[in-house]
Amino acid sequence: MSGCPMHFDPLSAEQIADPYPIYARLRREAPVFYDEAHDLWIVTRYDHVLAVVRDTETFSSENAVRASVKPLPRPVLDVLATGRPLTPTLTDSDGDVHRRLRLLVSKAFTPKRAAQMEGRVRETVDALIDEFVHEGRTDIIEKFAWHLPLITITDILDVPREDAPSLHRWSVSWLRLMQATDGVEELVARAEDVVAMQRYFMDRIQARVDEEGDDFMPALLRARTADGRPLTVEEAMRVSVNLIIAGHVTVTRSIGNGLTTLLAHPDQLDAVMRDPDLVPAMVEEILRYESPAQGLFRTVRADTVLGGVEIPAGARLMLHWASANRDEKAFSNPGVFDVTREPPAAHVAFGKGVHACLGAPLARLQLKIALPRLFERLPNLRVAASEGAAVRDTIFFARGFTKLDVEWDVREPSSG
Ligand code: HEM
Repeated sequence: MSGCPMHFDPLSAEQIADPYPIYARLRREAPVFYDEAHDLWIVTRYDHVLAVVRDTETFSSENAVRASVKPLPRPVLDVLATGRPLTPTLTDSDGDVHRRLRLLVSKAFTPKRAAQMEGRVRETVDALIDEFVHEGRTDIIEKFAWHLPLITITDILDVPREDAPSLHRWSVSWLRLMQATDGVEELVARAEDVVAMQRYFMDRIQARVDEEGDDFMPALLRARTADGRPLTVEEAMRVSVNLIIAGHVTVTRSIGNGLTTLLAHPDQLDAVMRDPDLVPAMVEEILRYESPAQGLFRTVRADTVLGGVEIPAGARLMLHWASANRDEKAFSNPGVFDVTREPPAAHVAFGKGVHACLGAPLARLQLKIALPRLFERLPNLRVAASEGAAVRDTIFFARGFTKLDVEWDVREPSSG
């Protein structure tokens, strides 16, 4: 496959703007494609993606969120050495280690806890919109999209809301470190942020080890496996870092992707605003059509064959959720955004199998509340016409905006 003249370059301006044509070509011509530039095997078909997540013996989740496993530059490693090991976390562990972490975290991070957040999510959505509703224009990512999920997850983890800006910066730094395409100086600063985030949670958790009650952190520290083993403080720190990062950067992206997709399909937006029963299906369709986690990674444990292609032990795969979600063999008219699609939830935007997203109920809850409310309270909402109004992130395994200037008609004297 390496001789194929396919140009997979997810950091090119063209593919950042619209990656879907190259995914379609890959699915058609080279569904298991070796990309020399990134030393990655790109897996783009729905059935292959599912085959990989189901075979956890062959396809390990080690480094599941690291785009490259080349050693980081020495000065970056030196900074990381002043903190705690980055692994194992839920996302990048296998077998018994993963089973234990997942069991313990699931005891405290339950769908019930997510459902209990509904009232607070509604309040947060309205409080954030109140801040800019009279302005007629704002950067919706900066003023809304990252605040909502971060406030929601900090409320669950019982972290002060005023620490949200630091947590956001540290999370972005963590993502950039996982992609590792920046210069050494930049990566050193990112590593310093990651270590600061680890210290922050170590201190907070240490202070709560003897606490009782139903809050998430005491519940997490109280949880036991069948043999009675709890999480250590260091493990609870890694769980917290994992939840803060996984819990907000993806939802932030979905809010931006959801807004732009609905604005590009006014008939679908109208249908949802006229019939609120369509809102849950709208959320699933946004996740399918513009998946915020475009792809994550697996490491091949033993020589194997996928889709007739031989892949050697040690190889790295990129499982392309976003491409699988546009696979013609899995969805009819996959390039069409259709909020009445049946069944709405067959997509793999939350992954599948043992590592399937633990935060899916919380993500869905926030998107179901936030997206219709923005359209209700910001009449004639539109992307600003000015140049540079919409800027996409350059993290290639995620898809979303770092900036999205929007405008709306301001109601007088006030809205609500
Ligand atoms: C639209 C929003 C979200 C998307 C698209 C998303 C996507 C994903 C995907 C694709 C995976 C699978 C990873 C893999 O197989 O390697 C995953 C795992 C995970 N997600 Fe999410 N996620 C979202 C929101 C959240 C939220 C809100 C939380 C928590 C507050 C969260 C926590 C997690 C955790 C802890 C895992 C690891 C599960 C495991 O490995 O056992 N996610 N997510």
